[in-house]
Amino acid sequence: MKQFPKDFLWGVSISSYQTEGNNFNSDWYAWEQKGKTKDKSENACDYWNRFRSDHDFLSELGVNAFRLSLEWSRIEPEEGKFSDEAIRHYREIIQDLKSRNIKTVVTFWHYTSPIWFQEKYGFHKKEAIEIFSRYGKKITDDLGDLIDVAVIINEPVMPLIFGFLLGKFPPGKINPVSFLQASSNLAESYIEIFKYIKEKRKNIPVGVSNLYNFFEPKNKRNPIHKLWVWAGKKIWNEHFISKIKNHMDYFGLDYYFHNRMGCFGTNNENKRVTEMGWEIYPEGIYAVLKEINQKYKLPVYILENGIADSQDKQRSEFIEDHVACVRKAIEDGVDVRGYFYWSLMDNFEWLHGYRPRFGLIEIDYKTLERKPRRSFYAYKKIIENNGLDE
Ligand code: BGC
Repeated sequence: MKQFPKDFLWGVSISSYQTEGNNFNSDWYAWEQKGKTKDKSENACDYWNRFRSDHDFLSELGVNAFRLSLEWSRIEPEEGKFSDEAIRHYREIIQDLKSRNIKTVVTFWHYTSPIWFQEKYGFHKKEAIEIFSRYGKKITDDLGDLIDVAVIINEPVMPLIFGFLLGKFPPGKINPVSFLQASSNLAESYIEIFKYIKEKRKNIPVGVSNLYNFFEPKNKRNPIHKLWVWAGKKIWNEHFISKIKNHMDYFGLDYYFHNRMGCFGTNNENKRVTEMGWEIYPEGIYAVLKEINQKYKLPVYILENGIADSQDKQRSEFIEDHVACVRKAIEDGVDVRGYFYWSLMDNFEWLHGYRPRFGLIEIDYKTLERKPRRSFYAYKKIIENNGLDE
């Protein structure tokens, strides 16, 4: 049996907007009303009201950590006016985790902003730095005592690229200048919040989660393929991190993608793929862990890794294979501190709506009934053994 280090964090992740339901002060809610998403989120999983029974599943699964996020639009529904009620509710949610001995990994911002912020400002405006930092500081003051690991921003490149270059996420811009402004403002506010946490609650490790892909040329001798690899890495893996790399206590990794770069970008034809069409390639998590270790020399938390698999045919094996590669990376010297499967339960998958099913728990969206899948028990076994049987 290949066991993991003693204090290794085994967890699962969710985000507020994708699970809570009825976040009608959020820019994504407005985005949905404009018909930009396949479905409307509406009640989502109703985690906001059902968190206790959902946490019962965590206890059954045996995780020692849980990653969740806070909805800025609930906490600051009007500019500069914070909702005590929302903060109190988040305290209850997080305290419930604490009472179960589950470490809390709290994301401050997982793609969604209040409507007022998006209408009046947006991250491309200079004012965003002060406004977003004020929100981050408020969370540190009011919830910091309950946070074990802080993730200030989830996958910054996603809302930057999709929101400012591709026009697919709010605010729907296709404008490289706004992209660069938003990216530098987001980084600046991150650093300000980082410093504040270090001053007020120095024991909390602080970082972001990064979508970090494994890029390879389809043909190692083709210079165009190699150029695409270079460009892909520069934009997706390095663009944002390069701005904050001196202000991270750990490296947060979200691993989903293996990009084999051909002459016209990613070309993964004829490969084993998920229901999202993403190639299943566990070896890639080993490769990126090694790369990250060499480059950043920081402890790593794998904050997301998951598969859309409605019939639960591939998920158990997917998790086992990725965990095996993580184990190998640890043996080869990478300081990996935790692995979080995305996601505890099926939830609202942004532009794609409710069709993709990432959950260890199946949700019937008509009744909101929850049903653990077979893979729930496969992951439970890994956690119980603190590793894989071999
Ligand atoms: C995001 C999640 C999303 C998941 C699956 C990650 O990039 O953080 O919000 O649901 O990928 O697409």
